[in-house]
Amino acid sequence: MRFNKKSKIINQIFGFPPPKFLRMPAVGITISDHSIKVMEFLRSGNHLEIGRYGDIPIQEHVMISGDIKDRKKLKNILLSVKEKFGINFIYASVPEEKAYLFKLELPKEAINNIRESIEFQLEEFVPISSKEAIFDYEIITEKNDNGKIEANVSVISEKYINDYLGIFQEAGMIPISFEIEAQALKRAVVPSGDSGTYMIIDIGRTRTGISIVSEGFLRYTSTVSLGGDSLITAIQKQMGVSFEEADKIKQKFGFIKNEKNTELYKSLTITMSALEEEINKRYSYWSERSENVNKNRKKIQKIILCGGNANIPGFKEYLSLRIKTPVEVANIWANAFSFDDYIPEISFNYSSGYASVVGLVLGEMY
Ligand SMILES: Nc1ncnc2c1ncn2[C@@H]1O[C@H](COP(=O)(O)OP(=O)(O)OP(=O)(O)O)[C@@H](O)[C@H]1O
Ligand SMILES: [Mg+2]
Repeated sequence: MRFNKKSKIINQIFGFPPPKFLRMPAVGITISDHSIKVMEFLRSGNHLEIGRYGDIPIQEHVMISGDIKDRKKLKNILLSVKEKFGINFIYASVPEEKAYLFKLELPKEAINNIRESIEFQLEEFVPISSKEAIFDYEIITEKNDNGKIEANVSVISEKYINDYLGIFQEAGMIPISFEIEAQALKRAVVPSGDSGTYMIIDIGRTRTGISIVSEGFLRYTSTVSLGGDSLITAIQKQMGVSFEEADKIKQKFGFIKNEKNTELYKSLTITMSALEEEINKRYSYWSERSENVNKNRKKIQKIILCGGNANIPGFKEYLSLRIKTPVEVANIWANAFSFDDYIPEISFNYSSGYASVVGLVLGEMY
């Protein structure tokens, strides 16, 4: 599901039919509160290889929970990205905090005018008027047990997209499409054709995205304002070192327990407990509903970790023990290439933060 040339805003810019440049190479860009990630794929035989890529830091207070707080600074960072990578056309993401995702049942007669039927009901589900909203949908099933059409709908405010469009354009880049970050993430971390039920946890610096995917569809998304930086702060306090030094310690020792670091281990587990609770809450809610309310709902088979902090040593084992579910770190390249064909220069341990931008571009490559 993406807000692209079919959606009204992009229509206004491009008009129809889509001009030739839409077929020109474009690069994926995600903007989070703390970084801009850039990724391009190039075709090589029957697999993809990485083209231009980068991870550009954003200073504090420029972006807060996906809102642009310092337009001038963000524009300058985007200008430097444009200059460094020579990017003209982009696929961009929208943080899930800014989007609404819901499942809708429609009578089977709606099959010929699904868009209108959804638009008609939009305001019952989201706190923005349908005039101010841009939405897209995907059909989950054309006939469920009640004989109805089931659709996944994602909605975003037109104003928000306009804001982003404006700043990209001011920096000389033209967005071809926008996609909700969790949708893109799913495309990168769940192998294509895999119909399992998974919880995807994207642990960044100060935010963690928690989503659930089942039978290939995104069923749930949420964001928690906690991330790996709280562990860095805990290490800083415990050991009296700088933020940078504490980050290195986190990356080197993390949740590996030994006789020398019992105090540090204890403080990291205490710090992590708030996030753990948020994960558990969502996990239990999904599981209880699959047992009691909706028997068709599949149980979560495993947790897939991504985001820069997915590779904290010992963390996946720790989380698996706490949530009592298998946990694995995503191979974010699984749908792009196999390591038999191509070895990327970004090492596996440092690739996890690129998950959503990889998914964004993959959506345009197939
Ligand atoms: N191998 C690694 N082991 C542990 N931590 C790592 C590793 N590689 C990167 N990180 C951590 O990942 C963090 C960056 O993660 P990510 O790129 O997902 O954040 P972000 O998306 O910019 O943040 P947010 O989503 O909060 O805005 C850094 O703080 C860094 O400490
Ligand atoms: Mg992030």
